[in-house]
Amino acid sequence: MSRRKIVAGNWKMNLDRAKAKELTAAVAARVAEAGATELVLCPPATYLETVGATIAATKSAVALGGQNMHDKASGAFTGEVAPAMLLDLGCRYVILGHSERRTLFGETDAIVNAKTKAALAAGLIPIVCVGETLEERESGRTSDVVATQVRGSLAGLPPADLEKTVVAYEPVWAIGTGKVATPQQAQEVHALIRGLLGTLASPAVADKVRIQYGGSVKPDNAADLAIQPDIDGALVGGASLKADDFLGIAKAFGG
Ligand code: 13P
Repeated sequence: MSRRKIVAGNWKMNLDRAKAKELTAAVAARVAEAGATELVLCPPATYLETVGATIAATKSAVALGGQNMHDKASGAFTGEVAPAMLLDLGCRYVILGHSERRTLFGETDAIVNAKTKAALAAGLIPIVCVGETLEERESGRTSDVVATQVRGSLAGLPPADLEKTVVAYEPVWAIGTGKVATPQQAQEVHALIRGLLGTLASPAVADKVRIQYGGSVKPDNAADLAIQPDIDGALVGGASLKADDFLGIAKAFGG
């Protein structure tokens, strides 16, 4: 089964409106460099509208994604953004359960699960993040930790929803550290995740799920990751803030 590769830029809490517009225009103008790879831009919520409008103006096939959302449809949740609000701004994707959300904002697997279900119900495609800390890896618990996160975050999804969902494996020790997982380390966990998805649904469903790697992905390490059989794209932080770097990564996956 050939899965369409997907490279997403998680801008996190960076840039301002003018820079967001500039970066979007640069990426949109060069989308052809990504070949068949799907490109997604995930700006801060405040710039979703600007980024969406810039993409629309260029008529390019770049998709828009949120970085987080609440699981409820509306109501007294000060400071939160509802699934339908993201959809309204043209989002196709939403990143959920990023390790920064889990660590800094207390998101548990149960919370990520509720958000994942809400995203799918609203018509958004969730990019569900999982990954172990350095301490967990060094104590030999990577498989257990990742399996628990995958099971908990994706619990109760019907196969039709599961196959649409994107999973991002982001080892916490590789995020923003310049320490990328080796292609073998990443492939091993990706294969484990796909195997687990096979037991949660069926091997046929697992075969359709796109699993991204994230953590210090750069143009010069992307090609070795891209040739691994279970790595279907990248979730990119720092390098997504520069059009050349982001497109260089996309190119490595698009070839
Ligand atoms: P870096 O690419 O900056 O390591 O960040 C990865 C990440 O957290 C993407 O979600």
